[in-house]
Amino acid sequence: MSATLSKIPVLDLKPEIALIRDELMAAIEGVLDSTQFIMGPNVKAFEQEVAEYMGVKHAVALNSGTDALILGCSALGLKPGDEVITTPFTFFATGEAISHFHATPVFVDIDPTTYNLDLNQVEARITEKTTMILPVHLYGHAVDMDPLLALAKKHNLKVLEDCAQSFGSTYKGKKTGAIGEGGAFSFFPSKNLGAFGDGGMFTTNDDSYADTVRMLRVHGARKKYFNETVGVNSRLDELQAAILRVKFRYIDEWNAGRRRAANYYTDALNKIDGVIPPSAADYTDHVYHQYTIRILGGKRDAVQQKLAEEGIGSFVYYPVALHKLPVYAEKPHHPLPVSDQLSTEVLSLPIWPTIEESVLDRVTKVIANAVS
Ligand SMILES: Cc1ncc(COP(=O)(O)O)c(C=O)c1O
Repeated sequence: MSATLSKIPVLDLKPEIALIRDELMAAIEGVLDSTQFIMGPNVKAFEQEVAEYMGVKHAVALNSGTDALILGCSALGLKPGDEVITTPFTFFATGEAISHFHATPVFVDIDPTTYNLDLNQVEARITEKTTMILPVHLYGHAVDMDPLLALAKKHNLKVLEDCAQSFGSTYKGKKTGAIGEGGAFSFFPSKNLGAFGDGGMFTTNDDSYADTVRMLRVHGARKKYFNETVGVNSRLDELQAAILRVKFRYIDEWNAGRRRAANYYTDALNKIDGVIPPSAADYTDHVYHQYTIRILGGKRDAVQQKLAEEGIGSFVYYPVALHKLPVYAEKPHHPLPVSDQLSTEVLSLPIWPTIEESVLDRVTKVIANAVS
Protein backbone atom coordinates (compact mmCIF):
# COMPACT_ATOMS: atom_id res chain seq x y z
CA MET A 1 0.00 0.00 0.00
CA SER A 2 1.24 3.48 -0.81
CA ALA A 3 2.31 5.32 2.35
CA THR A 4 0.13 8.31 1.42
CA LEU A 5 -3.14 6.40 1.10
CA SER A 6 -5.28 5.94 4.19
CA LYS A 7 -6.92 2.65 5.06
CA ILE A 8 -10.50 2.04 4.00
CA PRO A 9 -12.56 0.01 6.46
CA VAL A 10 -15.45 -2.12 5.27
CA LEU A 11 -17.74 0.05 7.43
CA ASP A 12 -16.91 3.46 8.89
CA LEU A 13 -19.38 4.58 11.56
CA LYS A 14 -17.34 7.66 12.52
CA PRO A 15 -18.71 10.04 9.84
CA GLU A 16 -22.35 9.44 10.76
CA ILE A 17 -21.63 9.73 14.48
CA ALA A 18 -19.72 12.99 13.84
CA LEU A 19 -22.69 14.43 11.92
CA ILE A 20 -25.11 13.95 14.81
CA ARG A 21 -22.79 13.87 17.82
CA ASP A 22 -24.46 16.80 19.62
CA GLU A 23 -27.92 15.29 19.22
CA LEU A 24 -26.67 11.91 20.42
CA MET A 25 -24.96 13.41 23.46
CA ALA A 26 -28.11 15.37 24.34
CA ALA A 27 -30.20 12.19 24.07
CA ILE A 28 -27.76 10.22 26.23
CA GLU A 29 -27.63 12.99 28.84
CA GLY A 30 -31.43 13.12 28.88
CA VAL A 31 -31.52 9.45 29.89
CA LEU A 32 -28.79 9.92 32.53
CA ASP A 33 -30.70 12.86 34.00
CA SER A 34 -33.96 10.88 34.05
CA THR A 35 -32.28 7.83 35.69
CA GLN A 36 -34.94 5.72 34.01
CA PHE A 37 -32.90 3.07 32.23
CA ILE A 38 -35.43 0.31 31.59
CA MET A 39 -38.80 0.57 29.78
CA GLY A 40 -38.91 4.35 29.87
CA PRO A 41 -40.38 6.99 27.55
CA ASN A 42 -37.76 6.56 24.81
CA VAL A 43 -38.61 2.88 24.32
CA LYS A 44 -42.30 3.72 24.09
CA ALA A 45 -41.76 6.65 21.71
CA PHE A 46 -39.34 4.64 19.54
CA GLU A 47 -41.90 1.84 19.22
CA GLN A 48 -44.58 4.31 18.15
CA GLU A 49 -42.30 6.11 15.69
CA VAL A 50 -41.17 2.88 14.02
CA ALA A 51 -44.73 1.48 13.87
CA GLU A 52 -45.87 4.65 12.11
CA TYR A 53 -42.90 4.60 9.72
CA MET A 54 -43.46 0.92 8.86
CA GLY A 55 -47.21 1.29 8.55
CA VAL A 56 -47.83 -1.45 11.12
CA LYS A 57 -50.01 -1.52 14.21
CA HIS A 58 -47.32 -2.72 16.60
CA ALA A 59 -43.55 -2.47 17.00
CA VAL A 60 -42.12 -4.20 20.08
CA ALA A 61 -38.57 -3.21 21.08
CA LEU A 62 -36.34 -6.10 22.11
CA ASN A 63 -32.79 -6.88 23.09
CA SER A 64 -31.58 -8.23 19.72
CA GLY A 65 -32.61 -9.33 16.27
CA THR A 66 -32.09 -12.92 17.36
CA ASP A 67 -34.65 -12.44 20.13
CA ALA A 68 -37.01 -10.79 17.64
CA LEU A 69 -36.83 -13.97 15.55
CA ILE A 70 -37.18 -16.31 18.54
CA LEU A 71 -40.02 -14.43 20.24
CA GLY A 72 -41.65 -13.89 16.84
CA CYS A 73 -41.54 -17.65 16.13
CA SER A 74 -43.02 -18.24 19.57
CA ALA A 75 -45.88 -15.76 19.00
CA LEU A 76 -46.62 -17.32 15.60
CA GLY A 77 -46.94 -20.69 17.31
CA LEU A 78 -43.83 -22.59 16.18
CA LYS A 79 -43.68 -26.02 17.83
CA PRO A 80 -41.20 -28.92 18.13
CA GLY A 81 -41.30 -31.09 15.01
CA ASP A 82 -42.56 -28.32 12.73
CA GLU A 83 -40.72 -27.58 9.52
CA VAL A 84 -39.86 -24.03 8.47
CA ILE A 85 -38.82 -23.13 4.94
CA THR A 86 -35.89 -20.72 4.92
CA THR A 87 -32.71 -19.77 3.13
CA PRO A 88 -29.30 -21.27 3.86
CA PHE A 89 -27.63 -18.06 2.66
CA THR A 90 -28.00 -15.90 5.76
CA PHE A 91 -26.57 -15.29 9.20
CA PHE A 92 -26.84 -18.28 11.55
CA ALA A 93 -29.47 -16.61 13.76
CA THR A 94 -32.14 -17.25 11.11
CA GLY A 95 -31.74 -21.03 11.36
CA GLU A 96 -30.89 -20.85 15.05
CA ALA A 97 -34.25 -19.28 15.91
CA ILE A 98 -36.04 -22.21 14.24
CA SER A 99 -33.82 -24.84 15.87
CA HIS A 100 -34.36 -23.18 19.25
CA PHE A 101 -37.89 -24.70 19.14
CA HIS A 102 -36.64 -28.16 18.10
CA ALA A 103 -38.29 -27.39 14.78
CA THR A 104 -36.46 -28.11 11.50
CA PRO A 105 -35.13 -25.45 9.16
CA VAL A 106 -35.75 -26.73 5.63
CA PHE A 107 -33.24 -24.94 3.46
CA VAL A 108 -34.31 -23.93 -0.05
CA ASP A 109 -31.76 -22.67 -2.53
CA ILE A 110 -31.39 -19.03 -3.53
CA ASP A 111 -31.78 -17.00 -6.68
CA PRO A 112 -28.28 -16.00 -7.89
CA THR A 113 -29.37 -12.48 -8.89
CA THR A 114 -31.15 -11.41 -5.68
CA TYR A 115 -29.32 -13.76 -3.24
CA ASN A 116 -32.79 -14.39 -1.75
CA LEU A 117 -34.95 -17.54 -1.58
CA ASP A 118 -35.68 -19.02 -5.02
CA LEU A 119 -39.46 -18.96 -4.91
CA ASN A 120 -39.70 -21.46 -7.75
CA GLN A 121 -38.27 -24.09 -5.43
CA VAL A 122 -40.30 -23.43 -2.30
CA GLU A 123 -43.51 -25.35 -3.03
CA ALA A 124 -41.68 -28.63 -3.69
CA ARG A 125 -40.27 -28.46 -0.14
CA ILE A 126 -43.59 -27.98 1.65
CA THR A 127 -44.74 -31.06 3.59
CA GLU A 128 -47.55 -31.74 6.06
CA LYS A 129 -45.14 -30.66 8.81
CA THR A 130 -44.44 -27.22 7.31
CA THR A 131 -46.00 -24.43 9.36
CA MET A 132 -43.99 -21.36 8.47
CA ILE A 133 -41.81 -19.62 5.88
CA LEU A 134 -38.96 -17.45 7.16
CA PRO A 135 -37.66 -15.34 4.25
CA VAL A 136 -34.62 -13.09 4.73
CA HIS A 137 -34.41 -9.75 2.91
CA LEU A 138 -30.69 -10.29 2.47
CA TYR A 139 -28.32 -7.33 2.21
CA GLY A 140 -31.40 -5.03 2.14
CA HIS A 141 -33.01 -6.41 -1.05
CA ALA A 142 -36.65 -7.37 -0.44
CA VAL A 143 -37.80 -10.89 -1.20
CA ASP A 144 -40.46 -11.11 -3.94
CA MET A 145 -43.26 -11.29 -1.38
CA ASP A 146 -46.38 -11.62 -3.59
CA PRO A 147 -45.62 -15.15 -4.85
CA LEU A 148 -44.33 -16.09 -1.40
CA LEU A 149 -47.55 -14.91 0.26
CA ALA A 150 -49.62 -16.76 -2.37
CA LEU A 151 -47.82 -20.01 -1.49
CA ALA A 152 -48.23 -19.34 2.22
CA LYS A 153 -51.96 -18.76 1.77
CA LYS A 154 -52.39 -21.86 -0.38
CA HIS A 155 -50.68 -24.07 2.22
CA ASN A 156 -51.89 -22.22 5.32
CA LEU A 157 -48.39 -21.19 6.44
CA LYS A 158 -47.33 -18.24 8.59
CA VAL A 159 -44.67 -15.83 7.30
CA LEU A 160 -42.07 -14.25 9.56
CA GLU A 161 -39.80 -11.82 7.70
CA ASP A 162 -36.15 -11.60 8.77
CA CYS A 163 -35.57 -7.87 8.30
CA ALA A 164 -32.28 -7.70 10.21
CA GLN A 165 -30.59 -6.24 7.13
CA SER A 166 -33.51 -4.38 5.56
CA PHE A 167 -34.58 -1.48 7.78
CA GLY A 168 -36.32 1.00 5.44
CA SER A 169 -36.30 -1.31 2.42
CA THR A 170 -39.59 -1.65 0.57
CA TYR A 171 -41.45 -4.22 -1.51
CA LYS A 172 -43.84 -2.63 -4.03
CA GLY A 173 -43.98 0.43 -1.80
CA LYS A 174 -44.64 -1.48 1.43
CA LYS A 175 -41.96 -1.56 4.11
CA THR A 176 -40.33 -4.93 4.72
CA GLY A 177 -41.55 -6.11 8.11
CA ALA A 178 -45.09 -4.97 7.31
CA ILE A 179 -45.93 -7.73 4.82
CA GLY A 180 -45.95 -11.12 6.56
CA GLU A 181 -47.51 -12.02 9.93
CA GLY A 182 -44.44 -10.56 11.63
CA GLY A 183 -41.09 -8.88 11.02
CA ALA A 184 -37.84 -9.24 12.99
CA PHE A 185 -35.33 -6.38 13.00
CA SER A 186 -31.81 -6.06 14.38
CA PHE A 187 -30.19 -2.87 15.66
CA PHE A 188 -26.72 -4.43 15.92
CA PRO A 189 -24.26 -1.49 15.60
CA SER A 190 -23.30 -2.25 11.98
CA LYS A 191 -26.89 -2.40 10.74
CA ASN A 192 -28.38 0.45 8.66
CA LEU A 193 -30.14 1.59 11.83
CA GLY A 194 -27.63 0.55 14.46
CA ALA A 195 -27.56 1.07 18.21
CA PHE A 196 -24.40 1.40 20.31
CA GLY A 197 -24.94 -2.12 21.57
CA ASP A 198 -27.47 -4.86 20.91
CA GLY A 199 -31.10 -4.19 20.04
CA GLY A 200 -33.99 -5.59 18.03
CA MET A 201 -37.66 -5.21 17.24
CA PHE A 202 -40.70 -7.30 16.34
CA THR A 203 -43.32 -5.73 14.07
CA THR A 204 -46.83 -6.96 13.35
CA ASN A 205 -50.38 -5.91 12.54
CA ASP A 206 -51.76 -8.64 14.79
CA ASP A 207 -52.81 -7.61 18.32
CA SER A 208 -52.36 -11.04 19.83
CA TYR A 209 -48.85 -11.63 18.39
CA ALA A 210 -47.77 -8.23 19.70
CA ASP A 211 -49.27 -8.95 23.09
CA THR A 212 -47.47 -12.32 23.28
CA VAL A 213 -44.08 -10.81 22.37
CA ARG A 214 -44.57 -7.98 24.88
CA MET A 215 -45.34 -10.56 27.55
CA LEU A 216 -42.44 -12.88 26.65
CA ARG A 217 -39.87 -10.05 26.72
CA VAL A 218 -40.54 -9.49 30.43
CA HIS A 219 -40.38 -13.03 31.80
CA GLY A 220 -43.80 -14.06 30.52
CA ALA A 221 -45.66 -11.54 32.66
CA ARG A 222 -48.40 -9.17 31.51
CA LYS A 223 -48.55 -7.87 35.05
CA LYS A 224 -45.35 -7.54 37.09
CA TYR A 225 -44.79 -10.52 39.45
CA PHE A 226 -47.75 -12.41 37.93
CA ASN A 227 -45.82 -14.59 35.48
CA GLU A 228 -48.05 -16.61 33.17
CA THR A 229 -45.47 -18.53 31.21
CA VAL A 230 -41.71 -18.95 30.83
CA GLY A 231 -40.36 -15.94 28.94
CA VAL A 232 -37.01 -14.17 28.78
CA ASN A 233 -35.48 -10.83 29.67
CA SER A 234 -35.30 -9.14 26.29
CA ARG A 235 -35.95 -5.46 26.83
CA LEU A 236 -34.31 -2.75 24.75
CA ASP A 237 -32.40 -0.37 27.07
CA GLU A 238 -33.68 3.16 27.38
CA LEU A 239 -30.20 4.44 26.42
CA GLN A 240 -30.21 2.42 23.20
CA ALA A 241 -33.76 3.57 22.43
CA ALA A 242 -32.73 7.22 22.91
CA ILE A 243 -29.73 6.74 20.58
CA LEU A 244 -31.83 4.88 18.01
CA ARG A 245 -34.48 7.64 18.02
CA VAL A 246 -31.82 10.17 17.02
CA LYS A 247 -30.39 7.95 14.27
CA PHE A 248 -33.88 6.99 13.07
CA ARG A 249 -34.49 10.62 12.03
CA TYR A 250 -31.75 10.16 9.39
CA ILE A 251 -32.49 6.65 8.17
CA ASP A 252 -34.11 7.55 4.83
CA GLU A 253 -31.36 10.05 4.01
CA TRP A 254 -28.70 7.51 4.99
CA ASN A 255 -30.30 4.70 3.01
CA ALA A 256 -30.40 7.05 0.01
CA GLY A 257 -26.67 7.69 0.54
CA ARG A 258 -26.00 3.96 0.44
CA ARG A 259 -28.09 3.67 -2.75
CA ARG A 260 -26.10 6.46 -4.39
CA ALA A 261 -22.83 4.75 -3.50
CA ALA A 262 -24.15 1.41 -4.76
CA ASN A 263 -25.17 2.90 -8.12
CA TYR A 264 -21.75 4.49 -8.46
CA TYR A 265 -20.02 1.17 -7.71
CA THR A 266 -22.31 -0.68 -10.12
CA ASP A 267 -21.59 1.72 -13.02
CA ALA A 268 -17.87 1.09 -12.58
CA LEU A 269 -17.99 -2.63 -11.83
CA ASN A 270 -20.33 -3.43 -14.73
CA LYS A 271 -17.39 -2.72 -17.04
CA ILE A 272 -15.19 -5.37 -15.45
CA ASP A 273 -15.30 -8.91 -16.87
CA GLY A 274 -15.65 -11.61 -14.24
CA VAL A 275 -17.36 -9.34 -11.72
CA ILE A 276 -21.14 -9.37 -11.21
CA PRO A 277 -22.46 -6.39 -9.26
CA PRO A 278 -25.67 -6.81 -7.26
CA SER A 279 -28.92 -6.04 -9.05
CA ALA A 280 -32.04 -4.50 -7.56
CA ALA A 281 -35.36 -5.84 -8.83
CA ASP A 282 -38.02 -3.28 -9.80
CA TYR A 283 -40.17 -4.27 -6.82
CA THR A 284 -37.65 -3.23 -4.16
CA ASP A 285 -36.06 -0.08 -2.83
CA HIS A 286 -32.76 -1.79 -1.99
CA VAL A 287 -31.08 -0.30 1.09
CA TYR A 288 -27.66 -1.91 0.53
CA HIS A 289 -26.89 -2.98 4.06
CA GLN A 290 -24.17 -4.77 2.14
CA TYR A 291 -22.92 -4.07 -1.35
CA THR A 292 -22.07 -7.61 -2.36
CA ILE A 293 -20.52 -8.58 -5.68
CA ARG A 294 -19.76 -11.96 -7.19
CA ILE A 295 -16.25 -12.62 -8.46
CA LEU A 296 -16.13 -15.44 -10.97
CA GLY A 297 -13.37 -17.83 -12.01
CA GLY A 298 -12.23 -18.78 -8.51
CA LYS A 299 -10.60 -15.38 -8.03
CA ARG A 300 -12.58 -14.12 -5.01
CA ASP A 301 -9.97 -14.88 -2.36
CA ALA A 302 -7.15 -13.40 -4.47
CA VAL A 303 -9.17 -10.20 -4.97
CA GLN A 304 -9.85 -9.97 -1.26
CA GLN A 305 -6.16 -10.46 -0.57
CA LYS A 306 -5.23 -7.73 -3.07
CA LEU A 307 -7.73 -5.33 -1.46
CA ALA A 308 -6.22 -6.09 1.95
CA GLU A 309 -2.71 -5.38 0.62
CA GLU A 310 -4.00 -1.99 -0.54
CA GLY A 311 -5.45 -1.29 2.91
CA ILE A 312 -9.05 -1.88 1.83
CA GLY A 313 -11.41 -3.89 4.03
CA SER A 314 -13.91 -6.36 2.59
CA PHE A 315 -15.95 -9.20 4.02
CA VAL A 316 -17.35 -12.52 2.94
CA TYR A 317 -21.02 -12.76 3.95
CA TYR A 318 -21.27 -15.77 4.14
CA PRO A 319 -18.30 -18.10 3.67
CA VAL A 320 -20.30 -21.17 4.75
CA ALA A 321 -23.98 -21.62 3.95
CA LEU A 322 -26.03 -22.77 6.94
CA HIS A 323 -26.49 -26.38 5.78
CA LYS A 324 -22.69 -26.78 5.76
CA LEU A 325 -22.17 -25.43 9.30
CA PRO A 326 -21.14 -28.05 11.88
CA VAL A 327 -24.49 -27.62 13.64
CA TYR A 328 -26.48 -28.67 10.54
CA ALA A 329 -23.93 -30.57 8.42
CA GLU A 330 -25.02 -34.00 9.67
CA LYS A 331 -28.69 -33.31 8.97
CA PRO A 332 -30.21 -34.37 5.63
CA HIS A 333 -30.87 -31.59 3.14
CA HIS A 334 -31.61 -31.23 -0.55
CA PRO A 335 -28.81 -30.12 -2.87
CA LEU A 336 -28.22 -26.36 -2.61
CA PRO A 337 -25.77 -25.71 -5.46
CA VAL A 338 -26.36 -21.98 -5.87
CA SER A 339 -25.76 -21.27 -2.18
CA ASP A 340 -22.65 -23.45 -2.25
CA GLN A 341 -21.30 -21.68 -5.31
CA LEU A 342 -22.09 -18.17 -4.12
CA SER A 343 -20.37 -18.74 -0.80
CA THR A 344 -17.15 -19.08 -2.84
CA GLU A 345 -17.86 -16.03 -5.01
CA VAL A 346 -19.38 -13.27 -2.87
CA LEU A 347 -17.47 -10.31 -1.52
CA SER A 348 -18.98 -7.37 0.35
CA LEU A 349 -17.27 -4.05 -0.35
CA PRO A 350 -16.91 -0.93 1.81
CA ILE A 351 -20.19 0.98 2.03
CA TRP A 352 -21.70 3.56 4.36
CA PRO A 353 -24.05 6.49 3.76
CA THR A 354 -21.41 9.21 3.30
CA ILE A 355 -18.69 7.18 1.58
CA GLU A 356 -16.85 9.43 -0.90
CA GLU A 357 -16.59 8.75 -4.63
CA SER A 358 -12.78 8.87 -4.36
CA VAL A 359 -12.99 5.91 -1.98
CA LEU A 360 -15.32 4.01 -4.34
CA ASP A 361 -12.89 4.74 -7.21
CA ARG A 362 -9.96 3.35 -5.25
CA VAL A 363 -11.85 0.15 -4.42
CA THR A 364 -13.04 -0.47 -7.98
CA LYS A 365 -9.57 0.18 -9.45
CA VAL A 366 -7.99 -2.41 -7.20
CA ILE A 367 -10.69 -4.94 -8.16
CA ALA A 368 -10.24 -4.22 -11.89
CA ASN A 369 -6.48 -4.81 -11.59
CA ALA A 370 -6.88 -7.90 -9.45
CA VAL A 371 -9.23 -9.74 -11.83
CA SER A 372 -7.45 -8.80 -15.07
C1 LIG B 1 -30.05 -11.96 8.56
C2 LIG B 1 -29.87 -11.78 10.04
N1 LIG B 1 -30.73 -12.36 10.89
C3 LIG B 1 -30.63 -12.20 12.22
C4 LIG B 1 -29.62 -11.47 12.78
C5 LIG B 1 -29.50 -11.40 14.27
O1 LIG B 1 -29.53 -10.11 14.79
P1 LIG B 1 -28.76 -9.75 16.15
O2 LIG B 1 -27.31 -9.76 15.88
O3 LIG B 1 -29.28 -8.39 16.50
O4 LIG B 1 -29.18 -10.76 17.17
C6 LIG B 1 -28.70 -10.82 11.95
C7 LIG B 1 -27.65 -9.94 12.50
O5 LIG B 1 -26.54 -10.14 12.64
C8 LIG B 1 -28.81 -10.99 10.54
O6 LIG B 1 -27.95 -10.42 9.70
